[in-house]
Amino acid sequence: GISMKLLLLGPPGAGKGTQAQAISAHFSIPHISTGDMLRAAIKADTPLGRESKKIIAAGELVSDNIMIALIKERIAQGDCKQGFLLDGFPRTLPQAEALVANQVNLDFVIELKVPDEVIVERISGRRIHLASGRTYHIRFHPPKIPGKDDVTGGSLVQREDDKEATVRQRLAVYHQQSELLGNFYQKCYQADGQPIYIKIDGAQAANKITDKILQYLTHHRLFT
Ligand code: AP5
Ligand code: MG
Repeated sequence: GISMKLLLLGPPGAGKGTQAQAISAHFSIPHISTGDMLRAAIKADTPLGRESKKIIAAGELVSDNIMIALIKERIAQGDCKQGFLLDGFPRTLPQAEALVANQVNLDFVIELKVPDEVIVERISGRRIHLASGRTYHIRFHPPKIPGKDDVTGGSLVQREDDKEATVRQRLAVYHQQSELLGNFYQKCYQADGQPIYIKIDGAQAANKITDKILQYLTHHRLFT
């Protein structure tokens, strides 16, 4: 059958989670966010959660070995048979190489380009519903009732790693370790046509970005 394996790349606060929600719903494929998985583990106080809590709060990366094991287990699950959308993994070269080594062949890589100044503004206004991962922004995407999730009415919170100093550290880590993945996938595309690489201006309105991504994906006619 048809399978759709997508990856969203981009700095913290680029809008990966926001776009992932719309795209995964459109194609009925699971949205796999390693950040959401780690936050769920922290909330449930599992060994993984206890191990990652301080690392995330400091804006650093959880080790490649842990993340690779986590993602291998996740994409082996039955709901990933028709494809999936990765958000937040890979974010280092060893993580990207692990996908290749495990014959996880991505169909599309979508990179959201957003300047650092825009990111700081986006992240400072972000509020999340922890249980579902749904994301809001006090100005750009406000909930219907302030501080409450639209679907469940549950409370919205700020992420612990969304303080400005931590955001700057996350951005530094992105520029050091993750930004180069854009080149990595662009080279794969130029060499053998897989995965198809799409770069999008992520500083536009969220719904415009969604429209553009869906246009690109349907243009390549993997789906009707
Ligand atoms: P993770 O949760 O993945 O965080 P991140 O990559 O820093 O990205 P964010 O979730 O902050 O941003 P986003 O791009 O999803 O933007 P969003 O849509 O929310 O990872 C957290 C931590 O976990 C890492 O720092 C690391 O410690 C650890 N970790 C995770 N994966 C790992 C891995 N593979 N290896 C090692 N460690 C790992 O949007 C942001 C805000 O802007 C929202 O308020 C939204 O409403 C708003 N917004 C979105 N789009 C627009 C738009 N177009 N216009 C205006 N506002 C917008
Ligand atoms: Mg996110």
